Amino acid sequence: MENQNSPLNYLDFNASSPLHPELIEKIPQVLFHFGNPSSIHWAGRESKTLLREARENIAKLLNVQSLEIIFTSGGSEANTTVLHRFLSAAQKTSRNELITTKIEHPSISQSVIALRAQGIKVHEINVDRDGNFDWTHFQSVLSEKTALVSVMFANNETGVLLPIKDIAQQAHAVGAKMHTDAVQALGKVPLDLKDLDVDFASFSGHKFYSLKGTGVLYVKKGFDLGSLIFGGGQERKRRGGTENTLGIWSLGMMAQKKNQILDEALRMKYLRDMMEARIQKEISDVEITHKQALRLPNTSSLILRNVDGDTLLMSLDVKGFAISTGSACSSGRPEPSLVLRNIGLSHFEAQNSLRISFGWMTTEKQVHDFVDALKEVVQRLRKIDEEETLRKKYDSLECR
Ligand SMILES: Cc1ncc(COP(=O)(O)O)c(C=O)c1O
Repeated sequence: MENQNSPLNYLDFNASSPLHPELIEKIPQVLFHFGNPSSIHWAGRESKTLLREARENIAKLLNVQSLEIIFTSGGSEANTTVLHRFLSAAQKTSRNELITTKIEHPSISQSVIALRAQGIKVHEINVDRDGNFDWTHFQSVLSEKTALVSVMFANNETGVLLPIKDIAQQAHAVGAKMHTDAVQALGKVPLDLKDLDVDFASFSGHKFYSLKGTGVLYVKKGFDLGSLIFGGGQERKRRGGTENTLGIWSLGMMAQKKNQILDEALRMKYLRDMMEARIQKEISDVEITHKQALRLPNTSSLILRNVDGDTLLMSLDVKGFAISTGSACSSGRPEPSLVLRNIGLSHFEAQNSLRISFGWMTTEKQVHDFVDALKEVVQRLRKIDEEETLRKKYDSLECR
């Protein structure tokens, strides 16, 4: 999938991805299927068929059964459903503790705050600066009291991959259930939920070239989580609300591209490694977070010393490059990312981190153009900074 040589270069695929061109082409026809899938007349039946086909395609992609797929509004809803539904039921029993990590998406970490307020004991396991999961801590808190272990498959900020299969095996050995937030993995690495042996998993369409507002919750056959959203009994009473037929169709279409995932993963890894090699050679004072760890093939998280991350982002934006920084600008004040702080980066390292994430549309030329632009901007900003420091030094001398 080649990019149209646009002067705008999008390198922020972990935030969201553009729609796959095939979907853009086909969407107008699908828009005519407006019926409510619960209606029993022809219009309803058409929409119901779209849902059935999408469910089958997604189940095939993940190597699970169609009945194990529940459509949601996105990854956040899928995560929230598992944590809140599972733990509110578990709370009444002696197996009522949650184990998760310190690097989860806010839909998990904010749920943890709410669950703690309800009196649920939560253990948060560390992932260190080198990307290692703290097995010692995990094994010390894993017990017959553990109801659920929820660990993300891949981190959205650094791309680090967590050892889900091994964690699931140990969780099951004490009788606990296993959930993984696999939102960032979908379409970037091959996924086989049966092989991973997880009980629940969350996915999101807009990270995989599909429409926003579409997600999937996998619930292993035989387990009833109940519903977070009450409604007209849709999704076999597991998620109320009229289904987002168009969004679900779009994700189902992408699920048919299973064979492209590994090829694209290898291509993105080649581009990512090439970019990192060039950056390390041509720009001083750069560190690549989790460089030696197993990472998503498309993600690179850089710490650029002696240059402000937000100024860098804005300067690159002016040049047409869309990337992310390690600061979250809430209430007008940029705060360093908690995830980056939790893996051991200092306040400044986290704030001066950049995340570059590639997708199926990323070209080699875009990557080279990005490195050229980054090099020029970093040099310019560091020079301005040096001149400013010197000027301040002279000013202070004159005052004496
Ligand atoms: C790891 C992870 N989990 C969950 C989500 C939430 O997904 P959604 O935007 O579909 O709610 C995201 C989105 O950024 C994510 O990166």
